Amino acid sequence: MDDRLMAALGADGDAVARAHAIYTPTMLSLYDLVVHGLSNHLAWGCPTRRLVELYRDNLSTHHLEAGIGTGFFLDRVQGPKFERLVLLDINQNCLDRAARRLARFAPAQRKANLLAPMSPDLERFDSVGLTYVLHCLPGRMSEKLASVDHLKPLMKQQAVLFGATILGRGIAPNGAARMLLDLYNRKGVFNNREDDFESLSEGLRRRFGKVEIERQGCVALFRAQGTAV
Ligand SMILES: C[S@@+](CC[C@H](N)C(=O)[O-])C[C@H]1O[C@@H](n2cnc3c(N)ncnc32)[C@H](O)[C@@H]1O
Repeated sequence: MDDRLMAALGADGDAVARAHAIYTPTMLSLYDLVVHGLSNHLAWGCPTRRLVELYRDNLSTHHLEAGIGTGFFLDRVQGPKFERLVLLDINQNCLDRAARRLARFAPAQRKANLLAPMSPDLERFDSVGLTYVLHCLPGRMSEKLASVDHLKPLMKQQAVLFGATILGRGIAPNGAARMLLDLYNRKGVFNNREDDFESLSEGLRRRFGKVEIERQGCVALFRAQGTAV
């Protein structure tokens, strides 16, 4: 990302790098167990099944998954038969692992930083997934939501953006959640100390005509569609 853009976003390149440097092949081999097997239930108070339902309800046949991680949800959900699936991530380890796991859907890969404008050479999609990415991105919510502004030109008019993010404010974390929030924010893997439900909700409503958002434990789950009036 160029320096002017970084300055405008209030985020530096180091912070962007720290947010995804943890995703080495070894860490990715543990990710599903640690995050979707244990932390969702024991720390974040949002059962993984609820996130799988979000995918089941919102996936389309022309789907872009932004911040793919290990490809857990697209692998797990009994979704539609993809006609076009694109996996987008800043981290090549994530793209490689997820592409192998999801090979049956013949996905395309796109290495990109969500905090920078996307090159407009992709055909538009009917659905875009953005799960557990916003809490990683540096900056205030208004700055993180630049990622949504960068995804919007890739969405058809009635396309759905859906996903989830772990909040750092206005929640009632248990001991495990407090410990993980402290650890991950200290390491720069999470940058969600100031993330609250209201700023996410307001930011989505400013960008979309129809927004559904709910909180489950420490997690905000959202679905947004259409043009804001
Ligand atoms: C916590 S993981 C979530 C993975 C997956 N969505 C899930 O829920 O299991 C965050 C993902 O976002 C990616 N990511 C982090 N910062 C990014 C950025 N600036 N641009 C694009 N992807 C980013 C990471 O590489 C990683 O794949």
